[in-house]
Amino acid sequence: MIDNSALLQLWRDQPWHDALQAVLADMEQFQQRDRKSRAYAEAIAAVPPLPTAAPQLDRDQVTIGTAAQLTAAQHNHLQQALFALRPWRKGPFNLYGIEIDSEWVSALKWQRLQGNIAPLRGRRVLDVGSSCGYYLLRMQAEQPRLLVGLEPYATFYYQFCLLQRLFKIATCFTLPLKFEQMPLLEGYFDSVFHMGVLYHVKSPLDTLVRLRRTLRRGGELVLETLVIPGDEYLALAPPQRYAKMNNVYFIPTVNCLQAWLERSGFTNVRCVDVTRTTGVEQRKTAWIQTESLADFLDPDDEMKTVEGYPAPRRALMLAEVK
Ligand SMILES: C[S@@+](CC[C@H](N)C(=O)[O-])C[C@H]1O[C@@H](n2cnc3c(N)ncnc32)[C@H](O)[C@@H]1O
Repeated sequence: MIDNSALLQLWRDQPWHDALQAVLADMEQFQQRDRKSRAYAEAIAAVPPLPTAAPQLDRDQVTIGTAAQLTAAQHNHLQQALFALRPWRKGPFNLYGIEIDSEWVSALKWQRLQGNIAPLRGRRVLDVGSSCGYYLLRMQAEQPRLLVGLEPYATFYYQFCLLQRLFKIATCFTLPLKFEQMPLLEGYFDSVFHMGVLYHVKSPLDTLVRLRRTLRRGGELVLETLVIPGDEYLALAPPQRYAKMNNVYFIPTVNCLQAWLERSGFTNVRCVDVTRTTGVEQRKTAWIQTESLADFLDPDDEMKTVEGYPAPRRALMLAEVK
């Protein structure tokens, strides 16, 4: 869907070029066969070219254009495509006057991390689990050299494709791959973001080692994941669901997470924030057709999930490569 030839050209002499080209070709064949992917691609293709507008990326609501710039037909096509791509989990956005009030107020996480991380100007950045690209767009405001997102879930990958048709950022790419499917880009990135993904991973230490190897010496990992309260070196391993999610494998304490990072070879590991998720940050809106936080918590005790586990809280960890 997205033309990645500029990225492959940039990486033409890199050792991972051929392997990546092969994985992307396989993925493209899959997308051509996959009914959901084809429907998304058609919805996006139906959006006519829109007038050029300067994006505003340094504000909570990522914005491009105004309603006055669009004809009624352009507005309707854009609105239909955006609606066909629901659920919009990450945002908010204002796209030519259409306000996407996403399930997550993602600006809050950005506010928690922005003042703590190494400045992104001039850096090569990887965002693993980049969803629709809200954070990639926020990062772009800092003028990194290159932004690469990885997003394997079709709905969110195609959301990025639609947004990129509007924002047209030449140095920003998203590949429809899991981190584990991507060839190892040894020592390439200056900053790697891995936010909201580690609890979905079956073998978190293997993933942490691979993240370290993807960074150059002195590079920074920005890791955000679910944690449980407590000081012990323990992790919750739910046998079935956690907050109704059936793909959550390990939720450590902050101390346990720190030990995982150190044992994976990271240095200068520190926790800069722990925040319990509330309905201010995650809630049902018109842009999602699924359940949200309130449905995942015990109706009589918001400190517990419906399964009786500690309610979601998230730690933000920074770590470096020696
Ligand atoms: C909970 S969302 C977090 C999105 C965003 N990073 C954030 O912090 O708000 C997790 C995202 O990671 C993606 N994901 C899950 N497993 C992944 C993997 N192994 N590699 C890359 N992305 C993954 C999911 O499709 C989803 O979009």
